[in-house]
This record gives sequence, C-alpha cells and structure tokens, in this order.
Amino acid sequence: MTVVGPFGLSVRDQALEADVQTGLSAVEAGLLDATKSEVPFITDAAQHLVKAGGKRFRPLLVMLAARFGDPYAPGVVPSAVVVELTHLATLYHDDVMDEADVRRGVPSANARWGNSVAVLTGDFLFARASHILADLGPEAVRIQAVAFERLVTGQILETAGPRDGRAPVEHYLDVMAGKTGSLVAVSCRFGAMMSGADERVVGVLTQYGERLGVAFQLADDVLDIASDSHESGKTPGTDLREGIPTLPVLLVRAQAEEHGLPEDLELVELLDGDLTDDARHAEALARLRVHPALEQARRDTVRYAEEARALLAPLPDCAAKAALEELCDAVVHRAG
Ligand code: IPE
Ligand code: IPE
Ligand code: MG
Ligand code: MG
Repeated sequence: MTVVGPFGLSVRDQALEADVQTGLSAVEAGLLDATKSEVPFITDAAQHLVKAGGKRFRPLLVMLAARFGDPYAPGVVPSAVVVELTHLATLYHDDVMDEADVRRGVPSANARWGNSVAVLTGDFLFARASHILADLGPEAVRIQAVAFERLVTGQILETAGPRDGRAPVEHYLDVMAGKTGSLVAVSCRFGAMMSGADERVVGVLTQYGERLGVAFQLADDVLDIASDSHESGKTPGTDLREGIPTLPVLLVRAQAEEHGLPEDLELVELLDGDLTDDARHAEALARLRVHPALEQARRDTVRYAEEARALLAPLPDCAAKAALEELCDAVVHRAG
C-alpha cells in the first residue's frame, strides 16, 4: 500500500498510484498558473490558500473517476483545476460568513486582509475557474452552473435555518447535499465525463460522489467538535460559535426532548445561550466531546459512507474502484 496525494489515500496498485500522483502534480501547476494576476497583490491573496495546502480531495476524485475511460484525456487535469478553484473560492467566502480566523493551518484571507479582499478574491477564483471551464465546452459549463447554484443554495439555507414544517435534521441533510455533495458529485462526474467513460458509469460515479460528499461534510462537522486545530488546520467549535446546528447538536436536542435527562437539558440550555462567550463555548465543546450524540453522529457518517460504497457495485472491478471504496473509509476516519 502506498499513500497518494495530500489526502493520504492508500492505493494498492503501483501504476494507479504513479498516474494519480502525476495528475495531481499537473493540477498543482494548473492551480498556480490559474491564480496569477497582473496585480501582484491579487496573486498573493489568491495563492495564499493554494500554497497553504489542503487535501485536494476533489482533484483526487477527478483522477480516480477518469480511470473508467482514458485517464490521459485532455479535459481531465483542467476539470480537476476547475473543481479545486471552485472549492477554494467557496472557502474564501465561507470564512467570511463563519468569521473564521484560521484555514489550512494559516490565517484565513479575511483575518489577514479583511472581508472585502476575501470576498473579491473568492470572486476572482470563480472567474478563473469559469475561464478554464469555457474551454471544456457548454455541457461542462452547465453542469458546473447547476452544482454551483446548489452549493450556494445550501449555504443560504444553512444561514436561513429550516423553513416551516421542515424537520431540523432533514433541513440539515438538505444543506449537506447542497453545499458539499453537489461539488463532490461534479468532481466524479467531470473525471468520468472528460475521460469519455460510458454514460452509465458517469451516472454511477455522480451518485457515488453525491453520497460521499455528504459523508465528507458529516465527518467535517464531527471534526469541528472532536479535533484540535493542529489536526484540522481550523479553529475547533467554529460551528458552535456561529450558532450553526450540526448533527451532534441536533442529536443532543432530540435526545433531551425524548428522555429529558437533566444533564442533556442543561447542555441544551448552554447551547441555546451565547456561545460567543469564551468560557461558555469551551464548556459546550468539552461536554459535546464526551456526549454519546457525537458517537451517534459518527455512526451516521459511516452509514452514508457505506451507502456511497454500495453505489459502486455496478462498476467493473479495477484498481480505481478499489481506491474509491477505500476512500469511503478514509473520509470517515480522517483526522483533519
Ligand atoms: C472544507 O473542505 C469544507 C468542506 C466541504 C468540509 P476540505 O476539507 O476539502 O478542505 P481542504 O481543501 O482540505 O482545505
Ligand atoms: C464549507 O462549509 C463551505 C462549503 C462546503 C461550501 P463549512 O463551514 O461547514 O466548512 P469548514 O468547516 O469551514 O471547512
Ligand atoms: Mg466554515
Ligand atoms: Mg460554513
């Protein structure tokens, strides 16, 4: 088993590992190229998070999905650059929305240059992604546009909260699929599509990506509570501080309502209060870390990842399929 890419995926097949590594290196070069501006300050701001690292999860998926056709087809690497640039742009914007100070182990763009620069740099990255996308043809542009609309809708729904009659957990899962499932699905779809894979294979991989994306975001929300910033490169408890109810918190509320245990009711009261207060925030985080709801959320995450794995069944057996299956474990067991 060899580890491939910054995501740290274990791959058994040496030829696959070498090709994916080569593809990811080409994506790195493409990202640096796509983030250069005539204005040096824009280059600095746009390359800030590119150079800080990141897992390159979406480009990895493009490379693996491309194994079901011609993995060296000309659209594969550019489409991987497009999905990573789009993802990156959403991170610039997300850190403004979440008032996050740290991203990829470095100060967020908003912490470093303020909200205006962070928002505009995000827009610059979208513009550059669109430029590359134009060369990939109108179908690719349309697919990206639909996914982007879903992503933004997810982010807005998260901010707005559940509409009348929508149960909190269902609303939360809608948000997960929109803000994260959409782009992870497109990563798989682009890889398969650009490689010229069979239509049915493209469909299977798109479904897989959508499910895997939800599992990935569920894991991220568990990590927001469970991991420290050393592992995640982000500040723990950001969702709590921003009052964004994630699955562990929703499960605590549901359990408190159902069983009415005093310690659960106390925790809900704490969660309902002002979590911008450092002491209250630290206490809520500490209590959530040892609450059974966190384990329940982990089990739910595994369930989504297993559903993603099951969706791969119709694909022909090959090293790339094994790697995509492996990814279902890696996504839920990652530390950051
Ligand atoms: C963070 O994405 C936002 C989510 C959708 C969970 P990643 O966890 O892929 O972030 P990087 O690219 O590795 O920094
Ligand atoms: C990330 O969402 C933004 C998108 C998925 C579009 P989060 O706010 O949940 O992710 P982190 O934890 O900041 O990376
Ligand atoms: Mg965030
Ligand atoms: Mg957010």
